[in-house]
Amino acid sequence: MNNTADTVTITNNNSGDTVTLPLMRGTKGPDVIDIRRLYAEFGCFTYDPGFTSTASCDSKITYIDGGEGVLLHGGYPIDQLAEKADFLEVCYLLLFGELPNAEEFSRYSESVTRHTMLHDQLASLLKGFRRDAHPMAVMVGVVGALSAFYHDKLDIFDPEQRRMASIRLVAKMPTIAAMAYKYTIGQPFVHPSNSLSYAENFLRMTFAVPAEPYINSPVLSRAMNRIFVLHADHEQNASTSTVRLAGSSQANPYAVISAGISSLWGPAHGGANEAVLKMLEEIGSKDRIEEFLRRAKDKNDPFRLMGFGHRVYKNHDPRARVLKESAEEVLTELGVRDDPLFALAMELEQIALDDDYFIEKKLFPNVDFYSGIILKAMGFPTSMFTVLFAVARTAGWVAQWNEMSGDTGQKIGRPRQLYVGELQRNFVPLDAR
Ligand code: SDX
Repeated sequence: MNNTADTVTITNNNSGDTVTLPLMRGTKGPDVIDIRRLYAEFGCFTYDPGFTSTASCDSKITYIDGGEGVLLHGGYPIDQLAEKADFLEVCYLLLFGELPNAEEFSRYSESVTRHTMLHDQLASLLKGFRRDAHPMAVMVGVVGALSAFYHDKLDIFDPEQRRMASIRLVAKMPTIAAMAYKYTIGQPFVHPSNSLSYAENFLRMTFAVPAEPYINSPVLSRAMNRIFVLHADHEQNASTSTVRLAGSSQANPYAVISAGISSLWGPAHGGANEAVLKMLEEIGSKDRIEEFLRRAKDKNDPFRLMGFGHRVYKNHDPRARVLKESAEEVLTELGVRDDPLFALAMELEQIALDDDYFIEKKLFPNVDFYSGIILKAMGFPTSMFTVLFAVARTAGWVAQWNEMSGDTGQKIGRPRQLYVGELQRNFVPLDAR
């Protein structure tokens, strides 16, 4: 990190107290005020619910310019990675900061491939869920339960054990996700095949049935790979911040990633792709779009236009652009280009982008707006959409967790608060209340 000599001085206009704090400058993006001495020297906390103006860490993994609609992983633009990279190349880039050469890629892919199978007891654990359990509930439970199978390999201060845990998590997430799906539809689990790519392997485990041969579709595999790449990492979003905070207590990596899955599940975050499909199905036809836009703008109505808006992007989400192109390609290849939901989504996008409210508040389609349409066309039920997001985001979570765990200056995360409760008072016995 390139610190500069710049400083800022804060003055309390009542008491006249001042404090001078260093400004820190990264490679790109806004400078940050280093407030680590603020409370000790100035007696105040900062106040930033939702962390809209707070940098929680320094990181080399991902850069986002929300104003310009830029997303870089290790300096590489997301549209180039989505177009040209295998998902495991991106996993390697997020973890090590460089795209792998052929030998590195072969070694990393081989490591991941060798760890795609699950301990058989985990299949028994999974079968303890109800058949109608939401697959995200299964992911939270089974991924957390992995802690019970590697208890002798959980020393997070050992880089080799962190590397192995990262390999195991990236490798096993597709297997668990496919099993969660098969379990809900009552079909037998399909074991991983080491001869297939990451995306091909996941599609086969999800859609193959023992009764007939499974033919990989290059179009669907390419679309799956692209969706995984587009969802791999995204700076310090809610689930990644959950992973960092859980990891800062030195919890084991499986419990930490399970916490990230739980946070991603929310409809304001990774659950939005499922919510978009439900919203489009509820809107039903183009003539009801205005009614839903009115609701989205009504402060007294909790309805939000799902798949629109973003904490950081105040311009187009670059991932949404790639996904929109991908949607057209996949739907055309599958012969469902005139899918009414896709047509409705494009009409809704156009009307919203021309609407003053959405223009003024800089609300553009985000990564979740088109992903669900592609996933539905590929044959996934809406309940699996966020599961796929979690499979992809595991690459970013383990990279961010490794970056944090490898930082010797790392402390346990422990924010403070603005207390607005009661002053001290004495206990009142029940019969006197
Ligand atoms: C993801 O952080 C990441 O990087 C996340 C993610 C990743 O890759 O990890 O990109 C993935 O989570 C994408 C976002 C998916 N969520 C949705 O699509 C749900 C719908 N979107 C909204 O809930 C909302 O836009 C958020 C949660 C995404 C962002 O909310 P913010 O940044 O807290 O913004 P806000 O709620 O303060 O909204 C600002 C204004 C508000 O109006 P005012 O109070 O200023 O009058 O915009 C309005 C909001 O009411 N607004 C919307 C809206 N989103 C914001 N109004 C209608 N529809 C919307 N979708």
